[in-house]
Amino acid sequence: MSIRPILHFPDERLRTHCRPVTKVDDKVRKLIDDMFETMYEAPGIGLAAPQVGIYERLMVIDVSEDKSAPQVFINPELLETRGTEMMEEGCLSVPGIYEDVERAEWIRVRALDRNGDSFEKEVDGLEAVCIQHEIDHLEGKLFVDYLSGLKRQRIRKKLEKQRRQTL
Ligand code: NI
Repeated sequence: MSIRPILHFPDERLRTHCRPVTKVDDKVRKLIDDMFETMYEAPGIGLAAPQVGIYERLMVIDVSEDKSAPQVFINPELLETRGTEMMEEGCLSVPGIYEDVERAEWIRVRALDRNGDSFEKEVDGLEAVCIQHEIDHLEGKLFVDYLSGLKRQRIRKKLEKQRRQTL
């Protein structure tokens, strides 16, 4: 396993519409293992493939407090959503920024697991928010897109400044 570098907003590569995974093979499973390692090390509760420069529809999450609930979603589809809920979100590609975002409160999702088998799940709360956030990444969408243009501009400036200081 290895830790992969994470792309940061406003990197345009995060805007890529990802293509479906056509075959769940050992190469994909290696990527999944790397993504878990990268997410846990960050640390974060979700990571989508485009965040590590792989433009395929694949994401990992673990919303447990002790890394005990790793979940993989390959080619995820939101089948149904209900209600709305406001929750504070962050993103490993937008480090240090936390803002309220409104999402569906309950979702039904279908995806393939690491063996390529299809499964369906109904979830709510933090897990539902996390899944919606990661699916957005696969469409090239970031949580800052839900904020006002002014706020997004401020975040962009802040991150660019931080980056210049680290270089
Ligand atoms: Ni994110």
